Amino acid sequence: MTDRKDMTLTSSGFYVSQEAPISCENPTPTPTVPAPDILRCAYMELVVTDLKRSRDFYVDVLGLTVTEEDDEAVYLRTLEEFIHHNLVLRQGPVAAVAVFGFRVRTPEDLDRAVAFYEELGCRVERRATGFTKGIGDSVRVTDPLGFPYEFFHDVEHVERLAWRYDLYTPGALVRLDHFNQVTPDVPRATKFMQDLGFRVTEDIQDEDGTVYASWMRRKPTVHDTAMTGGDGPRMHHIAFSTHEKHNILSICDKLGALRMSDNIERGPGRHGVSNAFYLYLRDPDGHRVEIYSQDYYTGDPDNPVVTWDVHDNQRRDFWGNPVVPSWYRDASLVLDLDGNPQPVTKREQASELEATIGADGFSYTRSADEGGMPEWKLGEYKLGHQL
Ligand SMILES: [Fe+2]
Repeated sequence: MTDRKDMTLTSSGFYVSQEAPISCENPTPTPTVPAPDILRCAYMELVVTDLKRSRDFYVDVLGLTVTEEDDEAVYLRTLEEFIHHNLVLRQGPVAAVAVFGFRVRTPEDLDRAVAFYEELGCRVERRATGFTKGIGDSVRVTDPLGFPYEFFHDVEHVERLAWRYDLYTPGALVRLDHFNQVTPDVPRATKFMQDLGFRVTEDIQDEDGTVYASWMRRKPTVHDTAMTGGDGPRMHHIAFSTHEKHNILSICDKLGALRMSDNIERGPGRHGVSNAFYLYLRDPDGHRVEIYSQDYYTGDPDNPVVTWDVHDNQRRDFWGNPVVPSWYRDASLVLDLDGNPQPVTKREQASELEATIGADGFSYTRSADEGGMPEWKLGEYKLGHQL
């Protein structure tokens, strides 16, 4: 942990520091061999309990393009995805995440992935023909945090639909932006991901240094994945991006018009963390999907790390709107390499939900020495302030 006095407080209420201000007391061993060179988060395989119902949601409502499908699985992509898919829906008995897929720079990076995870004693499987349609030689692992990851380089490129403006809808989803994972020990998970070559861009912590969440990137955006503190390993959400924030408002209008407002969990709004516009949806199995737009460039190697105080009302919603409790509590199971749900370990450290909206929680938009909240505001029903 970096002392607050060693961070620079900005006029927007967050702090910046040059290195991630997160220290870990029980790290996973750092492998002696190099990590695979990961390009980006590339696809997720979701197990769904009613394939037709889920296909209706992702294709008819959200407008994803079907690359290929059969009785067991549907392979989907956004309009600016040029490889075979960035989402696979697979029929199965238990709603869960089967794989978090990452593309690596070269075929040799698959050998590096095998050596990296074998040194950690992880279960590793390799298939020259790939595990999934549209993807060649690949490596699957259960990582030290319990998550199922796949690494691949060889892909099938498909027709580029980015120029097909006749196919764009008002709420068009253009790219897969990121994953978000739930893990009990965020500093430990962050340290492991740093060993894997990720850089921290933002985090949420309290004055004692308890870390509630961290955001990490390979591609030059705010993140390819984030670690959210909670019972895990579980999957918090998968996020697809739109070009503009008005596209997100169109999705809200469409869900309203279809009498599907129940599928909206939180938002629309503007995040403090990431500065992106957002909307959270739940699919027919309860898997959480974020629609996300317009974060910022992080590709410079000395990009400073942004730290938000857990009690800052604007960290998760820049307009100060409350975070609903389900958003903190609910997440999807993840599977081991045999397809069985991974056991979930309880988070022992402080919970963000309890720190900010529980009976003992408090939060602020401006500090008490700046005058605190006006009296009329104290009477508002506002989670995170007086519940
Ligand atoms: Fe997200």
